[in-house]
Amino acid sequence: MPLNPPLRTWRDQRVWVIGASYGIGASIARQLIDAGARVALSARKRNLLDEIAAGSDALVVPLDVVDPASVRDAAAQVRKAWNGFDLALIVAGTHVEMRAQNWDLGRARSLLDVNLFGVLHCLDAILPTLLAQRSGGIGIVASVAGYVGLPKALVYGASKAALINLVESLYGDLHPLGIGVYLINPGFVDTPLTRKNDFRMPALISAEAAAAATLAGIAEGRFEIHYPKRFTRWLKLLRILPYPLQFRAVRKVTGL
Ligand SMILES: NC(=O)c1ccc[n+]([C@@H]2O[C@H](COP(=O)([O-])OP(=O)(O)OC[C@H]3O[C@@H](n4cnc5c(N)ncnc54)[C@H](OP(=O)(O)O)[C@@H]3O)[C@@H](O)[C@H]2O)c1
Repeated sequence: MPLNPPLRTWRDQRVWVIGASYGIGASIARQLIDAGARVALSARKRNLLDEIAAGSDALVVPLDVVDPASVRDAAAQVRKAWNGFDLALIVAGTHVEMRAQNWDLGRARSLLDVNLFGVLHCLDAILPTLLAQRSGGIGIVASVAGYVGLPKALVYGASKAALINLVESLYGDLHPLGIGVYLINPGFVDTPLTRKNDFRMPALISAEAAAAATLAGIAEGRFEIHYPKRFTRWLKLLRILPYPLQFRAVRKVTGL
């Protein structure tokens, strides 16, 4: 039994993609446009959004998730154009590699400003519409880095763990009202975000494959959409191991 209502077609669905200028969000937006959805594209870099929208009827609605007023303005533009929406996907996020040895409070705060407060600003702008409609859905991209504490992900992992918990609570509140809630947990995806990594990324997949898995999971009505399974299943197992075994396994696999 899927935890959300399955979707028969993307055609004419009104989907707002936040974080659509490059990476996973841009691939999601392109695939939605190809599938006949009505798409609103948001991120900071307007020129990249314009390129994705070119030749389609996609709306371009720039915003900075760190600035709540810009997110509210963008939501008002989307509502005005479409009189509501069927799905909002919050994909925007950033990554800063950090360990205790290179602790930097300023960088930790900026990361949380985007990955946690950015999502809260989006929720602030999206929830009133969903609650008034009593229909539609919201998907939030967290990460398998939120399952367990991993080296080099000192604050990034914490931001994603917070999102996982947030989306679980949201499901309890919104599902009874008929609103879909989707938790999206990718493994390693080849995007500008991961191209900075200096280590071998196991089971790395393309942004196109990540987008296809995300949209397929939503269409099937899944709550948690995690991929690629050959990687994410191991991390799920790690999460339920007793700490001595979990710590040993993480050290053995990462060498850190
Ligand atoms: N790549 C991976 O392996 C991986 C794995 C697990 C989870 N994730 C998560 O998946 C999401 C997308 O990752 P990605 O790899 O596609 O990252 P990416 O290539 O760096 O793309 C990030 C997207 O977020 C937007 N963004 C960043 N800061 C923003 C801000 N302040 N306001 C509005 N938009 C902002 C960027 O657009 P602008 O710069 O134009 O604003 C861009 O569209 C992130 O939440 C990431 O944590 C990624």
